[in-house]
Amino acid sequence: MEKLILFSLIISNIFIGLTLASSNHWSILSPKFKNGLINDSLKRYCESWRINVEVKNIMGFEVVPQECVEYIQQYMTSSQYKADSEMALEEVKLYLSGSCTTLENDGKDAWIFDVDDTLISTIPYYKRHGFGGEKRNTTSLETWMKKRKAPALKHTLNIFHDIKDKGLKIFLISSRSESLRSHTVDNLVSVGYHGWTKLSLRGLEDEQLDAKEYKSKTRQRLVDEGYRIWGIVGDQWSSLEGYPSAKRTFKLPNSIYYLS
Ligand SMILES: *[C@@H]1O[C@H](CO)[C@@H](O)[C@H](O)[C@H]1NC(C)=O
Ligand SMILES: *[C@@H]1O[C@H](CO)[C@@H](O)[C@H](O)[C@H]1NC(C)=O
Repeated sequence: MEKLILFSLIISNIFIGLTLASSNHWSILSPKFKNGLINDSLKRYCESWRINVEVKNIMGFEVVPQECVEYIQQYMTSSQYKADSEMALEEVKLYLSGSCTTLENDGKDAWIFDVDDTLISTIPYYKRHGFGGEKRNTTSLETWMKKRKAPALKHTLNIFHDIKDKGLKIFLISSRSESLRSHTVDNLVSVGYHGWTKLSLRGLEDEQLDAKEYKSKTRQRLVDEGYRIWGIVGDQWSSLEGYPSAKRTFKLPNSIYYLS
C-alpha cells in the first residue's frame, strides 16, 4: 500500500510538472472544479493532506480542512476513488490465491470486514452534510442509517462473495450501535450481502471503549473461539490496528472522517 501511494505521488508530481504550463485546471482526479476556487498549489496541498491521512501520518482529524472540502468531495466521488479501492481489493485476491495462504477448511478460517465505507457507502449522507467539513453528528447520521438506503460499494461486494465462496467465515465488525442492528442487516441484504457468520455492533458495554479497543476485543473473542483471522478489509486504521491482528490487513481509502 505505502509503495503504491508513493508511486502515485511520484507520478502525479511528474504530471503536475508537465502540465502546469499548459493548463490551470489540471488535476489527477478531475480536470475542472465547479467554482474554480481550487488553484494548483491548493490542489497539491489537499492531495498531500489526503495521502497523509491514508498513511496515518495525520490522525484523529475531526473535520476536513475547509479549503480542501471541495477537493475531498471530488476525490471521494471520482473514478480515482473507485480505482484506488479496486486496486486494494485486487491485492486481497492476489493474497488469497497465493501460495502462502493455505486454508485449513476446518470451519475456523475467518475474514473480517468493516461495514460503513467498506461494504456500503455513507457518501450519500455526507453529500448533504458538508462532506467532512462539518463535525460528525451521530444523531443525524444514525437517522440516515435507519433509512437503510446506503448503497453497496460494488467492488467490495464482489470480493465479499469471492471470499465466502472460498470457504472462509465472514465476520462484520462495525462501530455502529447495537440499536441499529435490524436496519443494518436489512440494508446489507437489500444491496446484495448475505451469508456472513456474525455481525458485531457496539453494545452498551462497549460504549466506554474507543473504536480500536472495541474492535480488538471483538477479534480477541474470535481468536479465543479458535478462528484464524486471515485478513481484515476496512476504511479506518482503528479497524486494522491493535491486538490480536490479522495475517494481512487492507486499507480502503476514506478521507471524509477518522474514527479513533
Ligand atoms: C491558491 O488558493 C489559495 C486559497 O484560496 C490561496 O491562499 C493561494 O494564495 C492561491 N495561490 C496562488 C498561487 O494563486
Ligand atoms: C445534529 O443533528 C440533529 C438532528 O438532525 C440536530 O437536531 C442537532 O442540532 C445537530 N447537532 C449539532 C451539534 O449540530
